[in-house]
Order: sequence, then C-alpha cells, then structure tokens
Amino acid sequence: MTVNDRLLRALRRQSVDRTPVWFMRQAGRYLPEYRDVRGDRDILEVCREPELAVEITLQPLRRMPLDAAIVFSDIMQPLAAIGVGVRIEAGTGPVVDEPIRAAADLERLRPLEPDVDEPYLLETIRLARKELSVPLIGFAGAPFTLATYLVDGGPSRDHVRTKALMHEDPAAWRSLMERLASIVRAHLDAQIEAGAQVVQLFDSWVGTLDPLDYDRDVAPFVRRILEDLAVPSIHFGVGTAHLLREMRDAGGDAIGIDWRMPLDLAWEAFGTDRAIQGNLDPAVCTGSWPAAERKALQVLERAAMRDGHVFNLGHGVLPETPVENLQRLVDLVHERTER
Ligand code: CP3
Repeated sequence: MTVNDRLLRALRRQSVDRTPVWFMRQAGRYLPEYRDVRGDRDILEVCREPELAVEITLQPLRRMPLDAAIVFSDIMQPLAAIGVGVRIEAGTGPVVDEPIRAAADLERLRPLEPDVDEPYLLETIRLARKELSVPLIGFAGAPFTLATYLVDGGPSRDHVRTKALMHEDPAAWRSLMERLASIVRAHLDAQIEAGAQVVQLFDSWVGTLDPLDYDRDVAPFVRRILEDLAVPSIHFGVGTAHLLREMRDAGGDAIGIDWRMPLDLAWEAFGTDRAIQGNLDPAVCTGSWPAAERKALQVLERAAMRDGHVFNLGHGVLPETPVENLQRLVDLVHERTER
C-alpha cells in the first residue's frame, strides 16, 4: 500500500502537488522514543530484531508527515553480516577489529547471501511495508565510503591508509572495490525484492577524492551498483561540489548534495536531466526556528519549484536537533511548495 507517491514522482522528475521531504537519519537519537527503544545496545544488535527495527523506522512518521521512510539499519550492517568484526561506538562511529591492509586480508570479504546472512533486514522491510503509506527507502554505503572504515579501521578525517592502498597497490584496491561492489549490489537487490521502493547509495566520504582518482578508482564500481536497478536511486555524498559531473556519470536518478553549494548551481553543474536531493545545513536545525526557517526558505527559493527536487538536509539529522524544528520544517516545505 503506497498512497503518497510524491518521492517516486520527484525522482522521475514528474510534477508533484508538493515537494517531497524526508531527512537522512530521521530515525535516531534526536527522538526520545528512539533512545528508549535502543537503550545502550549497539545499533547493529537492534537491526537484527525486526520488530524493534520496524518500530524505529516508523517513529519519525508518527511525529511528522514525512514523504518517505528509510529502513533502520546501518551502512556497516552487511559487512557485519558476512562476519567482519565491527562495532558502532556511540559518539564515534564504526570501529573495525581487524582492518584490511593488504591483499591477503581481502579473503575476509566473502560474497553476501542476503537471504542467509541478513534475513532480519529483509523481514524488517516486509513488515515495515505493511504499515506504511509512503515509499520505503532501502540503502547501502558505497564501496569507497565502506573502504574508509575497513582500511583505516574507524572514522578518520584524512583516510590516510585507504588512500595509500588505492595509490600503492592498485590490484588489491581493485579487488577490494570489486568485492564491495558485489556485496552492495546483492544487498540493494535483496532490499528491493523485499519491498524497498527507492534506494539511496551513501558515498559520504567520496568528496575527499579529486576527480581523476574518483573516475579511475571509484566510479566504475559505483556504476556497477547503480546500473539497471529495479527502482529509482539517490546517489549521495558530502563535499562533492568538484565531483558532481563524475558522480552523475556513475549513476543515480537523483544526486544528493550537502549544504555547501547552492542547490541551483549544483543542479546546473550536473544537469537538470537528473533529480536533486538536499540541502539544508543540519547544524542550522539545531538552533532557533527563525534561523532554520530562513535557511530553509533559501533552499526552496533556489529550487524554484522545479520538478525533480526532493527536500532533505545536506547530511544526517544531528542528535541535538529539537524535534519541533523538523516538524515545522516538514510543514513549511509542504505549505510553500503547493502547486
Ligand atoms: O537515516 C536513517 O534514519 C536510517 C538509518 C541510518 C543509520 N546509519 C542508523 C544509525 C543510516 C541511513 C545510516 C547510514 C550511515 N551509517 C552512514 C552514511 C550516512 C552518513 O551519515 O554519512 C555512515 C557513514 C554510517 C556509519 C555510522 N553509523 C556513523 C558515522 C555513526 C555515528 C556514530 C555516532 O554516534 O555519532 C553511526 C551510528 C548510527 N547509525 C546511528 C544511527 C541512528 C546513531 C547511533 C546511536 O543510536 O547512537
């Protein structure tokens, strides 16, 4: 049952009655009911319990009339599912027990068999679909972004070891990217088969590459993932103003951008034959409503009610965000974009 198809229409650049809006990390710590359900467990543990994961997926939709739900999981979850030792430390992020540093370590990245390795995720999607009247988004981390955690061993600002592997051992790098691309593609196809109506590929940290390295060492693998998917896709990265054309060429019905570049300039840069998702600064949502409202109106002005805009933040909701600001934001977007 999907009644509200604004997101699907916007991704196909069709006309909409109002601009669709959802938020990356709309299920998360800014919601007290999320903190209650999660307690002090690792989020990867919570993901393995479909009833809890469905509950968390639905929580933000009970608070505000969002135009999409995103399945509650994490980009590291499929890697944990094939046996990679990884924890998600609160306030830090993913920490990998034994980082991948050389060709010999690659054996640990065996192919993903979604039905066997992550049945809980597919069950979460099937159960959530029964409760939803908006499209359900499935997602995955892209190979480069996953590699930054696997090779550097945890969150890293400069991704020094990841880039060293890329530049110093091209064969190992290609093999790593190939393995990750197969895992990610299987992961997305399985989510789609279970009922995900849209998918988002998070290449969050790809903006740390220059266009030449991106084209040679990353884009071919992203292309394999986004090519001929059965549902529309959103291709997202942070700090990618210099990579927009390359990301577009690698694929995606929509390109997701952060807040650093005005939306209309980004759109012109990669071409209005793709949809765009973004791009309010999540930091501004943590303060007083008038400031958030002013910045949100600027985003809407730049979008100019063109078909093919999906309103979102430029990155995930920050934990200190007042729920009320996001509620007002959803209403503002819907009110100001009525066609
Ligand atoms: O958007 C949603 O509501 C769906 C759930 C979702 C989570 N992670 C749950 C989560 C999504 C889409 C992700 C993607 C994800 N995970 C990305 C790509 C998006 C981005 O932010 O760039 C990345 C890089 C990760 C890895 C990861 N997981 C990080 C860096 C962190 C933050 C650690 C922290 O505490 O600051 C996580 C943890 C995480 N994943 C949380 C949630 C709700 C917070 C964990 C908690 O409950 O404490």
